[in-house]
Amino acid sequence: MADLRVSVTEAFRHRFGAPPVHVVRAPGRVNLIGEHTDYNDGFVMPLAIEQAVWLAVRPRDDDRVVLHSTRATEPADFRLGAMERGDGWGEYAKGVAWALQAQGHELRGLEGVLASDVPEGAGLSSSAALELAVARALSEGAGLDWDPADMARTAQRAENEWVGVRCGVMDQMASACGVAGHAVLLDCRSLAVTPTPLPAWTTVLVLDTGTRRGLVDSAYNARRETCERVARVLGVPALRDATLDGLQAAEDVLMPTQVRRARHVVTENARVLAAADAMRQGDAARVGALMAASHASLRDDYEVSSPALDAFVEAAQAQPGCYGARMTGAGFGGCVVALVASDRAEAVAEAAALAYRQWTGHAPTAYRVRAVGGASLEPVPALFL
Ligand code: GLA
Repeated sequence: MADLRVSVTEAFRHRFGAPPVHVVRAPGRVNLIGEHTDYNDGFVMPLAIEQAVWLAVRPRDDDRVVLHSTRATEPADFRLGAMERGDGWGEYAKGVAWALQAQGHELRGLEGVLASDVPEGAGLSSSAALELAVARALSEGAGLDWDPADMARTAQRAENEWVGVRCGVMDQMASACGVAGHAVLLDCRSLAVTPTPLPAWTTVLVLDTGTRRGLVDSAYNARRETCERVARVLGVPALRDATLDGLQAAEDVLMPTQVRRARHVVTENARVLAAADAMRQGDAARVGALMAASHASLRDDYEVSSPALDAFVEAAQAQPGCYGARMTGAGFGGCVVALVASDRAEAVAEAAALAYRQWTGHAPTAYRVRAVGGASLEPVPALFL
């Protein structure tokens, strides 16, 4: 939100006694459809959202990077020339610096302050937003060209190889390549980005279950390994290349769980492409039906939903004006995404949250989100020039 631009700038001036040289923004994302397909070289349909990481910085003359976060007591503090693994939020920043340097880029030190209103652990990509904000600031400081898809890959590499989470490229691509007013159809193999308009008179709601995923990394990595194993058995480079017929033909040599996992990926890819068509035709009801089918597949075949997510999906889908709802992100907790008629948005959010709270006892939040552009360099608020 725009006020973080001002508050992060104020925080910078307070700490360093001068205005920042650059202010950057990198958004979180919500995924409309296409879950657990990205690391199978498949298709996804996220939108970058207003909730974002904001970072106010100035270059340093040495090779130190010092970033203070309004969410943490300890700053990220490291030297570009002597990077060592540690723990905490600073590893994401360090990982990005490491990945950029591993690609041969010469970086400059910088110092600054960051603030974020992307909820953590909610499935809205707070870490990808942090990575892209740091990438944007380091690139600006070093005078590097900003190629969004390239930077998304770099940030993914940071998370895979420095932080140790084997995530796909969706979150980083969404944060880097978001398009205002649009969802983006991403081909996670070619990295082609196709801006896709939301159907007219529809609104996207985020319904936060108030539950946070626990030990999700190991379950996530295990799903990914299963997919890779099935692809090998089927003799295809990735499950993106598999078909339901091919899967059926191999049922004898696969475990039933492996078949279900792969079936989710194959059918989910088809649903994303069908949703993209329906969106182009403005067919909100069809998009909603595909979202509902996506949730059922994630719940039953991929088994990454949770009772809280299922309850909120059900509560949303029972409301008039809700076209469809599903869990969004890695799963096991976090948020539901719903596509609703704009004139019913408030009513659906309120009624679904109430029903969900009554069923589960959890404290939900529900809000509409707006699709915004990807990571950007922002004007330093005039007030401080
Ligand atoms: C997390 C990962 C993404 C993607 C989703 C599931 O958000 O970071 O790469 O795999 O889970 O679709």
